[in-house]
Amino acid sequence: MMKLNSFGQWVLMGRRWLNPFPRACMFSSAVKQWEGGVSMVQGASRGIGLEFVRQLLEKSDKGHVLATCRNPKGATGLLELKNKFADRLDIHQLDLTIDRTIEEAAKSVKDKYGRLNLLINASGILSIPNVLQPETTLNKLQRDSLLLTYEVNAVGPILVVKHMWPLLKVGGGAGTDRDHAIVANISARVGSIGDNGLGGWHSYRASKAGLNQLTKTVSVEFARKKDPIVCILLHPGTVDTDLSRPFQSNVPEGKLFTKEFSVQKLLSIIMNAKRSDNGKFFAWDGQEIQW
Ligand SMILES: NC(=O)c1ccc[n+]([C@@H]2O[C@H](COP(=O)([O-])OP(=O)(O)OC[C@H]3O[C@@H](n4cnc5c(N)ncnc54)[C@H](OP(=O)(O)O)[C@@H]3O)[C@@H](O)[C@H]2O)c1
Repeated sequence: MMKLNSFGQWVLMGRRWLNPFPRACMFSSAVKQWEGGVSMVQGASRGIGLEFVRQLLEKSDKGHVLATCRNPKGATGLLELKNKFADRLDIHQLDLTIDRTIEEAAKSVKDKYGRLNLLINASGILSIPNVLQPETTLNKLQRDSLLLTYEVNAVGPILVVKHMWPLLKVGGGAGTDRDHAIVANISARVGSIGDNGLGGWHSYRASKAGLNQLTKTVSVEFARKKDPIVCILLHPGTVDTDLSRPFQSNVPEGKLFTKEFSVQKLLSIIMNAKRSDNGKFFAWDGQEIQW
């Protein structure tokens, strides 16, 4: 006998049936499927975020990407991609420290696509010239640095997840070969408390530990509510970007990855993520990282 399960999928004798259109589409034939799915990359002006946008567009001739950044007019890498993929790429302004911009980005995804299949929160700060330096000792801790890092690395990304949640629920895996939407928050191994053998970088470590806990917590809620959303945390390795540049002299030979390599590995984890991966923290090579 066939019946509709809580994810809007037809099941037959305990197996998944053929319906490729999860719950929302069952009730609205007018909703477009957006073949290949709709992905959002938050923090896409440069570095790892920009590379995610590039690979999402280049690796398939299907799928739409919404790239967000603080200053779209100055995001030259994104504008070059827009020239090449005019129909498949939208660029929106989003500053993690301004709620209105997060809400407006959610509204524009809702108005244009009505759904979201993949959300990647790629932004992050470690140092900002004359504003923020990673601490080497407790004596260097400052309230402003602790709060700014936490705001950008933990608070902002989880508020993006909050505002995209209704769209991810509607999206599930529709238009893709998955049966669920994915939230991939880019964290860092140094956010692991169990792995902290070196100390230092107090603000950055704590902010990523905060992001990890917030992401784990929403993953539990999504599972409890049977939302078709899988949340994962990813460590990209040490990658040659603006963020790591001031600290690259300490990186052992062969351990500094290109953006292309890291994002290829991370996308493979994202695209293969299963329901049972919900709430897990993975390194670039697919190994789980302790909390
Ligand atoms: N690179 C590494 O070795 C490494 C290692 C471990 C983890 N990570 C993590 O990987 C992620 C990407 O890092 P990356 O190396 O690509 O860094 P990056 O090249 O410095 O890029 C950082 C991105 O974050 C954005 N951003 C900063 N503040 C923001 C705000 N208030 N609102 C919205 N966006 C903001 C930047 O936008 P603007 O252009 O507007 O500043 C930029 O797009 C981060 O979460 C980082 O913590 C990186």
